[in-house]
Amino acid sequence: MAGERRLRVGLIGAGTIAFSAHLPAMRKLRDHIELVAVADVRIENAERAAREYGAESHYGDYHELLAREDLDFVDICTPEFLHAEQVEAAAAAGIHVICEKPMAASVDEADRMIRASEAAGTLLMIAHSRRFTGRYRNIRAAIERGDIGEVRYVRENERRPRAMYDGLNLGTNYWTPERGRSWLTLARFSQGAALANAVHETDLARWFIGVEPTSIYAEARITEDGAEVPDMITYTISFANGAVAAAEVVNQLPRGYPYFHMMEVIGREGRIRATDPIQSPYLSADVTGIQQPVNFPALLHVDQAYVEELSAFIRSIRFGDPLPIQPREARGAVELSVAAVRSSQTGQPVALPLTS
Ligand SMILES: NC(=O)c1ccc[n+]([C@@H]2O[C@H](COP(=O)([O-])OP(=O)(O)OC[C@H]3O[C@@H](n4cnc5c(N)ncnc54)[C@H](O)[C@@H]3O)[C@@H](O)[C@H]2O)c1
Repeated sequence: MAGERRLRVGLIGAGTIAFSAHLPAMRKLRDHIELVAVADVRIENAERAAREYGAESHYGDYHELLAREDLDFVDICTPEFLHAEQVEAAAAAGIHVICEKPMAASVDEADRMIRASEAAGTLLMIAHSRRFTGRYRNIRAAIERGDIGEVRYVRENERRPRAMYDGLNLGTNYWTPERGRSWLTLARFSQGAALANAVHETDLARWFIGVEPTSIYAEARITEDGAEVPDMITYTISFANGAVAAAEVVNQLPRGYPYFHMMEVIGREGRIRATDPIQSPYLSADVTGIQQPVNFPALLHVDQAYVEELSAFIRSIRFGDPLPIQPREARGAVELSVAAVRSSQTGQPVALPLTS
């Protein structure tokens, strides 16, 4: 990419994921992109991001950012219930978009985003960071090589403490009246762990199994006092080829609980197992037995994943490289997570694809 004009980017939503991952990735890619503007309803967040990362302007209203005529793309890091309106507005302004996961809060919203981008001829990439995380890429590459044969079972377990959300001292609740409570726990902003967190799992299950899901059964619970939406979910997904994915995801464990993640992918001819924390081994096994453990970095918030993700998007803008994750794939993960919410509310399995 040497010698090219730097792409000009605007950031919408300067909160936790922006400060912890997107802004540092932009800094690492400063030979290729230039952060020129930041918008956040909490204007002090926008001002801080602009000051610390060298943007020339900041705004309290993202429409003002989109009204600039010098942006090549925007990076949307707001909560998911805002993604549809913000992606539509960016597309209408003719600006490419990279947008945090989950793509949207509903399948209808995801469809609106796809329609808006297609109509405008703008790129839309949903930032499913785990698709760019070394461990998952290794698993996917092993599956593609045929190391474990056809995948029959994907099992995940992800447990995270609520403290993860306020380590930056930005507060994730600053724009809600309920100070001291994360938007992730409030029903008017979030559907809980099924979408906010388990959308990673539903995306990875689809990616690893590689065929369409046919049904999902889920149970969800509120374990945190005062939370309005479930912070704990378990589900089982059936896929068209008979493969199964199951997961347990919890996102509001007591502060200090060590972040934990475990994934197993079991194929007809072998299996892969990966666990956090950092020192955990990646074990693989085939018909000859267990292979030597290889240490992989921890799963989440691996800085390099966000750099890789943004680099891929930059290549798509510059050179027309295919997007590494298509909007329809991200829509598929939203559909599964929304179906999980529905199943947990009705107590019944939900057939896929969703018809309404
Ligand atoms: N890839 C990952 O692993 C990962 C990790 C964490 C969060 N996320 C996703 O990133 C998104 C943001 O999560 P977060 O934890 O950073 O949330 P956050 O609440 O910390 O930050 C969101 C920011 O958006 C701002 N905002 C709210 N309404 C706005 C508006 N109308 N216009 C402009 N800015 C507005 C808020 O003021 C805040 O600064 C969510 O969709 C979340 O699921 C992804």
